[in-house]
Amino acid sequence: MQKQRIISPSILSADFTNLTREIKRIEAAGVTRLHLDVMDGRFVPNITFGPMIVSAIAGLTRCHLECHLMIKDPSAYFEQFIKAGADTVIFHCEASADIAGDLQQLRDKGVRAGLSLKPDTDPDVLIPYLDLLDYVLVMSVYPGFGGQEFISETLINMRKIVELRAGRPFLIGVDGGVNLQTIRQVYETGIDVAIVGSGFFGAGDLQQRHRDLLNA
Ligand code: DX5
Ligand code: ZN
Repeated sequence: MQKQRIISPSILSADFTNLTREIKRIEAAGVTRLHLDVMDGRFVPNITFGPMIVSAIAGLTRCHLECHLMIKDPSAYFEQFIKAGADTVIFHCEASADIAGDLQQLRDKGVRAGLSLKPDTDPDVLIPYLDLLDYVLVMSVYPGFGGQEFISETLINMRKIVELRAGRPFLIGVDGGVNLQTIRQVYETGIDVAIVGSGFFGAGDLQQRHRDLLNA
């Protein structure tokens, strides 16, 4: 039996002048999970949006919202993103002073706890937290911008994390440069969720693109 695959479009590549229409198109394409990239201009050299936009999106959709926090001092903002409607909150291990405490805090507040790693962070960093994780987000580009080229060396990190999971129930997602050309090698590592920004919204027919990405 084939493993379940999930495509989580990154809203960063959508048309922000008409989010209502974009969310309708996304849902009509059969998407059930959405990736929201929060950047603070400090952890990464770019600024995107905060809880206000997350809350606006949450009001428009029934999709599962995964909030990718690329921000310093993430736990200071957990509450705001949860109130805004995030279902999974993902923070960066490189940004946290207390990874176990932060993961536990998210679970205690009733959302899924996700941890993300930059391309050059050793996946072994996850070992102490394996039983506290609901989601691991492996970066396949350096965080900061959509539309970057997939870094093939990160396939090693994906394989390693699938191995570390060893039957545990958490999901593994891959983020950055995933498109019709790169997605097959990503699936081959055994991950569950592919985040697709430019490679999704760049299509004229989103339903067809969603299908093509699932069946690649
Ligand atoms: C990068 C973001 C990604 C990005 C994905 O910092 O975390 O989610 O928007 O976009 P593409 O698929 O265009 O690389
Ligand atoms: Zn992201």
